[in-house]
Amino acid sequence: MTSTTGRKNEKFHRPVLVEETARYLVSEPGGTYLDLTCGGGGHLRFISRLLDPDAVLIGIDRDPDAVTAAQSNLKSVRQKVTIVNNTFSRLDGVLAILGIDTIDGVLFDLGVSSHQIDTSQRGFSFMQDGPLDMRMGVGAVRSAGDVVNEYSEEALAALFRRFGEEKRARKAAAVIVKARRTARITTTGSLRDILVPGLSPKHRNASLARLFQAIRIEVNRELDELEQALPKALDRLAIGGRMVVISYHSLEDRIVKQFLARGAKGCTCPPEFPVCVCGKTPQVALLTKRVVKPSEKEIEENRRASPAKLRAAEKLRQ
Ligand SMILES: C[S@@+](CC[C@H](N)C(=O)[O-])C[C@H]1O[C@@H](n2cnc3c(N)ncnc32)[C@H](O)[C@@H]1O
Repeated sequence: MTSTTGRKNEKFHRPVLVEETARYLVSEPGGTYLDLTCGGGGHLRFISRLLDPDAVLIGIDRDPDAVTAAQSNLKSVRQKVTIVNNTFSRLDGVLAILGIDTIDGVLFDLGVSSHQIDTSQRGFSFMQDGPLDMRMGVGAVRSAGDVVNEYSEEALAALFRRFGEEKRARKAAAVIVKARRTARITTTGSLRDILVPGLSPKHRNASLARLFQAIRIEVNRELDELEQALPKALDRLAIGGRMVVISYHSLEDRIVKQFLARGAKGCTCPPEFPVCVCGKTPQVALLTKRVVKPSEKEIEENRRASPAKLRAAEKLRQ
């Protein structure tokens, strides 16, 4: 990776699939580009090199640490840059305040930043001990500690099944409920120690990762956020504008794939109708018939890029 994404900022987060993102995203060099998960601003910085000085860059992130990092990383770019601390489901409000109606490109690079995972105080990782928090920032009210200590056993099992796709969901919920009868579970380390005896030693870390991911998705309402934001982002795109989405697990990718597939299909008539009566034509053209994944070289250099899947589409009509 060259310094084009801001090397000092790669400590905050090393952006993935940057060249592929820029290739699919940029259609109009003087256009307006919205990065809905700007993190440390690595993608925006890379994209800025391909744009004219009069292009406009807007970054949104719900994490105040990301906003500070992006502002610093993007200080030297030629274009006008505005970074806003908010959730992407509120993109309409952000654009209204900025007086922007349509955009030429929109990027979602979902999930968590390296900064969030690696800062033990944020409580995202089972590899380091820290407070059981996991709130990314704006819009996350309940902490991971509130979820783990206050949800019923059934609700915990359901979220481990749904958001973690974890086979041992019931067992995990049962051991948590048993342990919290003695004392509130307050740290990532204690949660890990409570869960470990109930997991298969062979798949221990993979199971812990899925269970922690499930709690994180619940705390930050990540899938609701995505389902709300995708149609809003598409609505704001100009005709010919592009949407790029990078996801890191199958639950997110399924939502994105189905959303883009619906847009590319057009017709919304029930399948039993012999002919189309709705007359709807496709709203988007898929630019990636198959997902784009990081190269082996990128994964070698940045292990965290490995689960990334990129999908892109171009808007055809309002
Ligand atoms: C994988 S990182 C993005 C990194 C960024 N592309 C870069 O180049 O540094 C994901 C970021 O999305 C943010 N995020 C996740 N869900 C969000 C949401 N619903 N609204 C706004 N930001 C969100 C996280 O706080 C995190 O900073």
